Amino acid sequence: MKKITIAIDGFSSCGKSTMAKDLAREIGYIYVDTGAMYRSVTLYALRHHLFNADGTVREQELRRQMEHIRISFCMNRETGRPDTYLNGESAIRTMEVSSHVSPVAALAFVREALVGQQQRMGAEKGIVMDGRDIGTVVFPHAELKVFVTASAEVRARRRYDELKAKGMEADFNEILRNVQERDYIDSHRATSPLRKADDAVELDNSNLTIAQQKQWLLAQYRRAAE
Ligand code: DC
Repeated sequence: MKKITIAIDGFSSCGKSTMAKDLAREIGYIYVDTGAMYRSVTLYALRHHLFNADGTVREQELRRQMEHIRISFCMNRETGRPDTYLNGESAIRTMEVSSHVSPVAALAFVREALVGQQQRMGAEKGIVMDGRDIGTVVFPHAELKVFVTASAEVRARRRYDELKAKGMEADFNEILRNVQERDYIDSHRATSPLRKADDAVELDNSNLTIAQQKQWLLAQYRRAAE
């Protein structure tokens, strides 16, 4: 099998990360969750009061402070998967971050910095990366590109269950609104909008179990790496 680059894109909360992490572990590849990188920048902006009262970003200040933002990955022994840290802090899957991340991810200078870091991480191949623009912008020559979809209701239910399982507060309707809002912003923004690469294989996993998705993805990998 040759060493390849695997790009997994799709809407928020459609199970991309679970699929991507499991595949990477199974085949011994590096896994990078790029959503966590955009969330890290958002957490930094929240911690440093870089949002205006109307939810817009104080762009000039964030641009100036980008060099202080250190994103790192560290293996979580319990889950066997890497966690993402912002300057040593891991707390990026909260609703507060989810509801502020879209305007941050829409900023061209933020994307430029993170895409550069992502490309450096994948320079040697042997990587599974998930996000919105991996197959279109970060690795347009990836040997395997997957575009994952699922209905907004199914995705909101998954995120609700995930938060509840962690003992966090969750309101289904608020999550559904957030999922729909982010779908809209992610696919309509001017810089790198979410879209399926022409050569990506599409997977609608609304009615698939995690085990079924895993099998499907493994088969795609074997085909692409032959
Ligand atoms: O995958 P996620 O829900 O954790 O991503 C968080 C946000 O980051 C999402 O609203 C879109 C944005 N994002 C992006 O613009 N580009 C990526 N490659 C990954 C995520």
